[in-house]
Amino acid sequence: MKKAYKISEATRKRCKTIELTEKDADNYRILHLEQVQYLYEVKHIDFSLFFKIETTLIEFINPREFSHLLLDQLITAMNKDFEDLSICIRVEDYPELARILDNIRNRKIYSLIQKDPLLDQKTLQLFCDLTSVSQLIVKGGIDQETVMDAEVAIDRMIDSLLSSEVAIGTLSRMILADPTLYDHSASVAMIAGVIAHKLLKMDRETSKLIALCGMFHDVGKTMIPGHILHKPDKFSPDEFAIMKTHAQLGCDEITKAIEQGAPLDPVVARVSGEHHEKFRGGGYPNNKRGRLEEDEEHGIHEFTRIVSVADVFSALLMVRPYKDAFSPEESLGIMQKAAEQAYDPKIFSVFETCILKTAETYSFQIDSGKTSGRIIDMDSKKVRKQAQ
Ligand SMILES: [Fe+2]
Ligand SMILES: [Fe+2]
Repeated sequence: MKKAYKISEATRKRCKTIELTEKDADNYRILHLEQVQYLYEVKHIDFSLFFKIETTLIEFINPREFSHLLLDQLITAMNKDFEDLSICIRVEDYPELARILDNIRNRKIYSLIQKDPLLDQKTLQLFCDLTSVSQLIVKGGIDQETVMDAEVAIDRMIDSLLSSEVAIGTLSRMILADPTLYDHSASVAMIAGVIAHKLLKMDRETSKLIALCGMFHDVGKTMIPGHILHKPDKFSPDEFAIMKTHAQLGCDEITKAIEQGAPLDPVVARVSGEHHEKFRGGGYPNNKRGRLEEDEEHGIHEFTRIVSVADVFSALLMVRPYKDAFSPEESLGIMQKAAEQAYDPKIFSVFETCILKTAETYSFQIDSGKTSGRIIDMDSKKVRKQAQ
């Protein structure tokens, strides 16, 4: 059962409290836990971070009092099962935070490249650009500007991607070496783009649109309450039912954004709504099956069938609160078991060949420990925290 967060007396004394009116609410923006965790890498900030509890804002960290201890307290509270608790920043301060996060990401990538000659710098840079856009979408919603930023990053990615093995090998090694660099939507966009353009030899424009569908596929998750989305344990059946609504919510949100002028192709909404459907049925929300080209009423769009392969592979590579990270071979092994039910065999078979080839070229032994591809040089609790 979720508890309401109680503001302690000490916090009340130390921090400024603001009651939000409906109009003020637009002046604050909710942050992802991963974004806040990056601030462990800096010594000072020029903006405040707020706890938001329903309509009350507490200025928990201000520039004068910034410390990693206060960050610990923010993150610890977020990891508990409190109702209606989130971390916010003033909208006007967000660009400064985004700049800090970009710098930290670039720094981390530079240091990875120094250590690992198998990483391709160009691929990592393209991934960083996709991540910056993905972070904007996650907390900023979909408007004309975000769509254009997404298109610029995706155009550059499709135009300059090297071979599928270089792209997927680099992405996988990067995620295994530093899980904090993982961004789900950026990674799905990149893998979906690789499948479309490099493996299925689709033309550039179609491949870009498919990558864009990958970028927006989980937009509905922004409407799932934080205590469920960031839950460190497995979901209860009720919570899982709520999580499942993100597909339809995403479709509705994108459709609404298009109606309000966002320059997106309606197929992006369709893919978001369909990305948890399974090729032979049994998926959600509508238990669709087969190919749209062959069955207009119940079939799944081709772009969705590509994005869903990218989605599952990307999720398996990542550490989750309830599971270790898997290497590409391990991820492929898990997908092969479900392949007949879940994926379009034509798409899955080219993907399978690509991962096997990638595994031949790239070694996924991160450390000299026993398990290939596992992150074994990090404290697992820390990894779990970072993954939420
Ligand atoms: Fe999803
Ligand atoms: Fe996803």
